[in-house]
Amino acid sequence: MLAVSHTDRVFVLSGAGVSAESGIPTFRGVGGLWRNHPIEEVASPVAWERDPRLVWEFYSMRRRVASAAEPNRAHFALAKLEQNLEGRLFLCTQNVDNLHEQAGSKRVVHMHGELFKSRCDTCSRPPFEDFNFCEPPAEIPRCDCGGRIRPHICWFGEAPFEMDRIFRALEKCTVFMAVGTSGVVEPAASFVACVAGRARTIYVGPEKPANLSSFTQCHMGKAEEVLPGLLDIP
Ligand code: APR
Repeated sequence: MLAVSHTDRVFVLSGAGVSAESGIPTFRGVGGLWRNHPIEEVASPVAWERDPRLVWEFYSMRRRVASAAEPNRAHFALAKLEQNLEGRLFLCTQNVDNLHEQAGSKRVVHMHGELFKSRCDTCSRPPFEDFNFCEPPAEIPRCDCGGRIRPHICWFGEAPFEMDRIFRALEKCTVFMAVGTSGVVEPAASFVACVAGRARTIYVGPEKPANLSSFTQCHMGKAEEVLPGLLDIP
């Protein structure tokens, strides 16, 4: 069991593996390709310029899958941990689904964006909720400014969101736990190295991540099987 004292500040980094058992495929490994396109080919500014309709087809498909998914025991355990820690949990997810929120987590930092939001690709109009997952029309919808409406997602080659807040939370944390992430996509893959040596560093997942050497503890197994016991949340 993970002993967390009343002075500990816990940083949790969640990855695709946390939502895998809810039916949302991970990126790497089996199911990591979409219609023979590597993910990088449909999730990048270059792809958007080349074929925005293909990009929207990909994200509409992901919206369909995510809207049918339900949170699993790992999401619920992390929501309960937030309640128990009373403000001392920082939950940072690379996932763009809303399963942490559906499980009851109130403060989730989506560093790679949110699947059910869209924004203009040109002006600074704030992102807005968008649950549409129909096949995209031939003409990509436009903003009042003339720009095209794109998914509110951090694509390959773009800067992740909320990095200032994330680094402040990393500086303060005493426990760092990564769950269900392969440890290959930067900058998230290097978070553990930022805190190693001064925080307890824990990995949870069925396979060893690429950045395993920076962790002091590794709990091998599926998140939904390991987390409830590790966090003592039945
Ligand atoms: N419980 C925990 N971990 C699991 C489970 C499970 N049930 N099933 C699979 N995993 C693990 C795999 O072993 C793998 O290490 O989840 C990890 C998923 O790795 P990736 O698919 O690389 O996902 P992630 O690390 O979150 O990807 C980071 O890459 O494509 C981008 O923006 C996308 O946010 C994503 C980023």
